[in-house]
Amino acid sequence: MLDHGAAPPAGDTRPPAPGGPGSRLMRRKPVERLVAEGGQGAGGMLRRSMGVWQLTMISIGATLGTGIFVVLGEAVPEAGPAVIISFVLAGITALFSALSYAELAGSIPVSGSSYSYTYATLGELVAWVCGWCLILEYGVSVAAVAVGWGEYLNEFLGGTLGFTIPDALSQPPGDGGIFNFPALLVVMLAMVFLLGGARESARANTIMVVVKIAALLLFCGVAVQGVRSGNYANFMPLGIAGVSGAGATLFFSYIGFDAASTAGEEAKNPQRDLPRAIMLSLVIVTALYCLVAAIAVGAMPWQRFDGTEAALAGIMKDVTGQGFWAVLLAFGAVIAIASVVLTVLYGQTRILFAMSRDGLVPKTFSKVHPKSGVPRVNTVIVSLFCAVLAAVVPLGKLADATSIGTLFAFALVNVAVIVLRRTRPEMPRSFRTPLSPLFPAIGFLLCVYMMGSLDLVTWVVFGVWMAIGLVVYFGYGMRRSRLASAEK
Ligand code: ALA
Repeated sequence: MLDHGAAPPAGDTRPPAPGGPGSRLMRRKPVERLVAEGGQGAGGMLRRSMGVWQLTMISIGATLGTGIFVVLGEAVPEAGPAVIISFVLAGITALFSALSYAELAGSIPVSGSSYSYTYATLGELVAWVCGWCLILEYGVSVAAVAVGWGEYLNEFLGGTLGFTIPDALSQPPGDGGIFNFPALLVVMLAMVFLLGGARESARANTIMVVVKIAALLLFCGVAVQGVRSGNYANFMPLGIAGVSGAGATLFFSYIGFDAASTAGEEAKNPQRDLPRAIMLSLVIVTALYCLVAAIAVGAMPWQRFDGTEAALAGIMKDVTGQGFWAVLLAFGAVIAIASVVLTVLYGQTRILFAMSRDGLVPKTFSKVHPKSGVPRVNTVIVSLFCAVLAAVVPLGKLADATSIGTLFAFALVNVAVIVLRRTRPEMPRSFRTPLSPLFPAIGFLLCVYMMGSLDLVTWVVFGVWMAIGLVVYFGYGMRRSRLASAEK
């Protein structure tokens, strides 16, 4: 175990002395206190039940889904066969931030992920902003991903039973429907699993991850027979700009590798296992993405991806001449996306748990059921919110809002590593980002660069979201903060 009880030296992360409003906004939660509070909720404790295997599965579960099954098809027309390089570029951006996440997850192994890391390093206001961004990364993306699940479910039902759910019941208002029932259903199913316990949910997720990796490997095994070298001949038809534009689009497919860091208080040996899980999941996912992309663009001319919805299923059908394979792949996608919904929903509940324990959101979010060790009320509220959002809002455009929120949180994590190295150089770290501060600085710049490549509408949505967040903080969190009570 790490010695978190050591007395911090000068320049530490203790809250600044009480004073004016500036010092209140900058108050920081000591790392020792964050760690000491680990697992504690109102009425009960979270249970430490997960090892490195389950944690890795949580991160892969939250990452591998809509990006490879849906967004790949949209990125190929932007980059051509060089989409493989786009995946590598997006993966490199994720890698630098993943190194920073790994260092902080090993040093501050609690459930709030980057929200808690920034609370310890950059102060309460920045932590709030970060937590508010994580709601975009987790809460809003659950809804967006659930909408994608409904589309694949229809594809699967059409292929097996010969019917699909009509638009009125499978599309939100504005997209030709009244109510997106499948999207609501998958969120509710995930809620039922989560209420059963973290360990049970992790088990279900592990099975789903195995199925989705098997589906992608099956795709590779079948589609490789259709690969033609001529399809790679015009490798970069739209130049470097196309490759980097597609990279920004594909960044969505890497979102979620940080999900293990929301399980810090339910991990058996978080200091050792969280950094491993984060890095391992990123390596596995990147390797799979590059392999699938290389085979997909080798088996189908890149121009044909334009307007194709389920590109991977289409390739399977073309190569084998049998619709059965497309149905099998649709099944894999249904499972894949369900596990993203499950793990990302889990992450959202745990981040709110940490924020509630600090007093920044109402106490009810940190109430733990004494028997199941699950924050039940929190889980039900978050699930209902995401389910309703998924059922009635056309979320296609909000996917970019997810990316901008995530990138902002990642940028803050990179800064937090640099700050913590300076303020607490002596603190034990089970994983150290190489070449700090160079690598975290590169990670920060890559995140800012990617944010810059998102369009104006996304920035406006982000600005409005942040403005609402600040109103909530100044109207509620700042006064209710437990650190504020301690100062009185
Ligand atoms: N990375 C997640 C996905 O691709 C959000 O579904």
